[in-house]
Amino acid sequence: MPKLTVNDLNLQGKRVFTRVDYNVPMEESGSTMVINDDTRIRATLPTLKVLIEKGARIVLAAHLGRPKGERVTSMSLRPVADKLTELLDQPVAFANDCVGEIAQVAINNLENGEILLLENIRYHSCEEANESDFAEQLAANVDVFVNDAFGAAHRAHASTVGIAEVINARGGQCAAGLLMERELQFLGEELDAPDKPFVVILGGAKVSDKIKVIDRLIEKADTILIGGAMAYTFKLALGKSVGNSLVEPDKVDIAQAALDKAADRDVEFLLPNDNLISQMNDGKWANPVVNSAEDIPDGREGVDIGPATAARYAEAITGAKTILWNGPMGIFEDARFAKGTMAVAVAVAAATGAGAVSIIGGGDSVKALNQNGLAGQVTFMSTGGGASLEFLEGNELPGVAALSEK
Ligand code: 3PG
Repeated sequence: MPKLTVNDLNLQGKRVFTRVDYNVPMEESGSTMVINDDTRIRATLPTLKVLIEKGARIVLAAHLGRPKGERVTSMSLRPVADKLTELLDQPVAFANDCVGEIAQVAINNLENGEILLLENIRYHSCEEANESDFAEQLAANVDVFVNDAFGAAHRAHASTVGIAEVINARGGQCAAGLLMERELQFLGEELDAPDKPFVVILGGAKVSDKIKVIDRLIEKADTILIGGAMAYTFKLALGKSVGNSLVEPDKVDIAQAALDKAADRDVEFLLPNDNLISQMNDGKWANPVVNSAEDIPDGREGVDIGPATAARYAEAITGAKTILWNGPMGIFEDARFAKGTMAVAVAVAAATGAGAVSIIGGGDSVKALNQNGLAGQVTFMSTGGGASLEFLEGNELPGVAALSEK
């Protein structure tokens, strides 16, 4: 059943508790914290603009980092209020606490169309414990709940689930924001019945992190391309030598089961047939060289897919109608090992230009596209990390389940 969204609501003069995911990377610069990447903040602007147009009194709540119930100064959301003020070109007030008198006074001061950002909700340990008293306090000064924090929707916390239960119980409305709606559309509906050919590209370090996603997508995909260190666990399952590459020897059986399932279903399951290999000397990568053999020599580690694999993967991506990409092909943060990930990014962008729907499942793949200036050339980039993976595994996210149905 589709969920209620902000577009369905009459919000004139209503106090709207809006949960957002402003868990953004920050860096200390002198005595202040500076936001390194504001993607998650920008992603909420469409929802905020609708709330402003509808005359809501907007109360934003978010977490930053994992302060574990302590007031950790470096995890204050104050810099985000300044960033929002700049992006929206209107003042965004800030309250030093998310509950109690400080929050209540700040909420009461709001006029229609004005915005208040509450301090890091995880300064209170009862947030993550989803304590009902705390959820009651969050709900005390507001009328409606909007959840636009897809990235936190896999957490059953007071600001994602508890408050929705309180507002639901008193007959109030709990709606999805526009970002949440788009995330559910692209990572959910689009992938439930994808246009074919459907090509899935999965990378990253561990098979164990992605196995549930692989298992589910084998049932839908035409082609699966594997990169990153997790490819070496599949290689191990096939009896190849992987040298010193990062592997999970205890996951060889699940890798083999995935290979068998793909073969049973006639899904093309591609593994790298060449690699860039390197070795760690005194904590530094040294002597990167292309290894065209299937086996990796002892003492060497696979750090990227090789050029032949990159070309083969690019060819497989060309002509796809739906593409899902989650995880880099190698250690792309090091420019010497970024060519494979770059080749995939370029191929995904080109296929999108030719009419494919391309969905980027969050985290490092989004970083890689940003790094290559290709972010604007894909259909959708998820703002979720763990939430995207859990959703792609087919799990219902508690933060979504808690919202009202249409
Ligand atoms: C994220 O960054 O993935 C979300 O904000 C969730 O953060 P968490 O893993 O600390 O709950």
